[in-house]
Amino acid sequence: MSEAQLHVLDDPAHVVGELIAAAAERGESIVLTGGSTPGRAYEHAAELQADWSRASVWWGDERCVPPDDERSNYGLARRTLLDLLEQQPGVHRIRGELKPADAAAEYEQAIDGVELDFLLLGLGPDGHVASLFPGSPQLFERDRLVTSGPAGLEPFVDRVTLTLPALLSAKRIVLLVTGESKAAAVERGFARSMTDAVPASLLRTGAAPVDVYLDPAAASRLAS
Ligand code: 6PG
Repeated sequence: MSEAQLHVLDDPAHVVGELIAAAAERGESIVLTGGSTPGRAYEHAAELQADWSRASVWWGDERCVPPDDERSNYGLARRTLLDLLEQQPGVHRIRGELKPADAAAEYEQAIDGVELDFLLLGLGPDGHVASLFPGSPQLFERDRLVTSGPAGLEPFVDRVTLTLPALLSAKRIVLLVTGESKAAAVERGFARSMTDAVPASLLRTGAAPVDVYLDPAAASRLAS
């Protein structure tokens, strides 16, 4: 079990970009996240390190949409990271264009046995990470590495997601969280006891170190 380390910074995306670039330079397997927060971190990582040929990239979750859909997490990484690189990593995307269960089964076969060195996650305002939403059956899946199901928040499209055991198997867990809308989830997830009601808090049940990089707005509910 590990306690999360909280790093309150004016520009956490800049620092997370540096961490991602260093992981790529080490040739690590890097699990990317989706949403609106990580794009600037990805762009900064690409500026710092253009050769990702020794690294591999994976996704913690994906929306069940085609890769060219604006909601695609792969599409986000392609626009803000992969297209900016000189040497590409091994890319293992979740094929959101398939039926959810088929995409999950295919991705599980690909990721089974892979040592995940660097897991990047965002945090939803409800405390979800990846697509493990509070109270969802996917959150309680313990026998599989990958599962699928409906979204608990916008965008309301089916999701494919790593399960909690898969997330906890990572050697290092890094969260990038910004904005006032996440302040309550940060406080519930990292300053209170662990609970199924706040999936992010369950990241502390594993052995991997958990580092949360957040701006002052996202940290505003934490006791000073
Ligand atoms: C997704 C992400 C999800 C995201 C959080 C935060 O598919 O949306 O994997 O877990 O990290 O919902 O999203 P924002 O960065 O948009 O706030």
